Amino acid sequence: MQDYHAYLEEVLITEEELQNRVHELGVEISQDYTGKRILAICILRGGGMFLTDLIRHIEPLVAVDFMGVSSYGVGSRRSDGEVRIKLDLSTSIVDQHVLIVEDIIDSGHTLASVIEMLRTRNPASLEVCTLLNKFSRREVDVPIKYCGFNIPDKFVFGYGLDMDEYYRNLPFIGVVDLEKYEADV
Ligand code: IMP
Ligand code: MG
Repeated sequence: MQDYHAYLEEVLITEEELQNRVHELGVEISQDYTGKRILAICILRGGGMFLTDLIRHIEPLVAVDFMGVSSYGVGSRRSDGEVRIKLDLSTSIVDQHVLIVEDIIDSGHTLASVIEMLRTRNPASLEVCTLLNKFSRREVDVPIKYCGFNIPDKFVFGYGLDMDEYYRNLPFIGVVDLEKYEADV
């Protein structure tokens, strides 16, 4: 495993484009939740960077909590539909306006399971905000209220998204050259 330059096929979304869009989403969310309190639930680990940037642009009261889920392990690039909860919320969501903050929706399995589980806990409302959406890969339907970018069916890294746990720190979204990467690791 090397420095990211070795595996970067192209920059798909620049840092500036990301920051502008995240700001827009924050403004839209602020308008929709005027007069309400938001409980933003970040899906770890990929959603971390998006959440911390997004809430800077949210004006209504907003609390945050974290949920750790994993749909596939190191070395695998697709979710098998079997979602594991690695870390549960530390607060109750009963009667809360819950906003799930996710990095990317691919097959939809991860979020569909999370939504199903959270619904049973009786929140006042439950919406999804995802930074990226790979619609062409969808296997189960997921209701998305806020979406940053629709992207093609390519494996991406950066801005919270990892390649086998690394490269989350890149400030942009890049397409991974999988051939080069797989040959190397
Ligand atoms: P899904 O269950 O197939 O929708 O997968 C969603 C999860 O897979 C996301 O939360 C990401 O952690 C991961 N994922 C899907 N596509 C990518 C990608 O292109 N790069 C990095 N992680 C990805
Ligand atoms: Mg991941």
